Amino acid sequence: MILENPQLVLTLDEIEDGHVHWRSPSNIALIKYWGKHGQQLPQNPSVSFTLTNAFTETRLEYEAKSSDDLRPVALDFYFENELNPAFGAKTQLFLESLLPVFPFLGQLKWTVKTVNSFPHSAGIASSASAMSALALCLCSLEDRFFGTLGEGGDFDKKASTIARLGSGSACRSVFEHAAVWGKMAGIAGSSDEFAVPFGEELHPVFQGFHDDILLVSTGEKPVSSRAGHALMDGNPFAAPRYEQARNRMKQLIPALKSGDLPLFGKIIEDEALTLHALMMASDPSYLLLKPGSLAIIERVRNWRAETGHPVFFTIDAGPNIHLLYPEEIFTDVRGGLIEELKTFCEDGLTIADFVGEGPEEV
Ligand code: DP6
Repeated sequence: MILENPQLVLTLDEIEDGHVHWRSPSNIALIKYWGKHGQQLPQNPSVSFTLTNAFTETRLEYEAKSSDDLRPVALDFYFENELNPAFGAKTQLFLESLLPVFPFLGQLKWTVKTVNSFPHSAGIASSASAMSALALCLCSLEDRFFGTLGEGGDFDKKASTIARLGSGSACRSVFEHAAVWGKMAGIAGSSDEFAVPFGEELHPVFQGFHDDILLVSTGEKPVSSRAGHALMDGNPFAAPRYEQARNRMKQLIPALKSGDLPLFGKIIEDEALTLHALMMASDPSYLLLKPGSLAIIERVRNWRAETGHPVFFTIDAGPNIHLLYPEEIFTDVRGGLIEELKTFCEDGLTIADFVGEGPEEV
């Protein structure tokens, strides 16, 4: 996909002040993206569920840029209603890197206002919701100013590509229900550059599938995802891992289509534990799981054995546990298991989430 477009330059006297505003959810990877190369390209394909309640809202306001503002991209950044120079500097760098793609970014003065529905850096992929929301705002602006993207295919593809450049996993948040990122035989149109929708292929049991996020710890992670990806380069298990991920995709995709819950559960739990095993096997080694994470994993497996209910866990790059289960066992999980698991969570914190409809323009 060619992204550079020198023609996206505004005739400034025709532009009035305005804004765009998107709400975009986080997503939970079932097969994990862990290891990358080139410009944010994945070492293996991944698939995720798009969530609903864990989201970022981003409002991008624009006005005339003063002639003495010499910044290539002039921007103020508010996070949770407060000016945040640290996030502002990161966003500014990212937007500067996008100047060849959206030259109009250099022509106006921007105010970014962003809020999360969940604690930042809690390992629930705040970068996925944040970067997808920002990418959607940028594509909406391109379309508003130049009419180049329309609704649907081109818009989604570009939004997913831009989101990926901000944070790999963000490219999957653009689509409702589920998305596949990474070239894979049997998935039409799949690409390493952007995600493609997979929601229509999902078995009905996965529509509205629950994901109760158990917040074991909401503190800042000692090793960021970015640093974790980089450590895969020296990891002796990297090559077999990428091969394994491809094989697991080949097994999981049919299970997602047929609704085979036992196979689904086995693969996603194996995947979660592999991800953390890779961290432990990095040089330097590190550990993001906490005692509470392990206690939850053990209790979930025991509860499943005791009740026969299809409840499974997955984990992102953090200590928090995602509990995935179908609607039919909602009452048993919420009435029993979750109450027990809350005792391992920081201040009993959980986020009740579910597979949902994807981003929305506000
Ligand atoms: C464990 O997308 O946060 O959540 O591309 O460096 O921003 P960057 O990394 P990021 O990595 C996510 C890793 C993961 C697995 C996944 O979401 O596939």
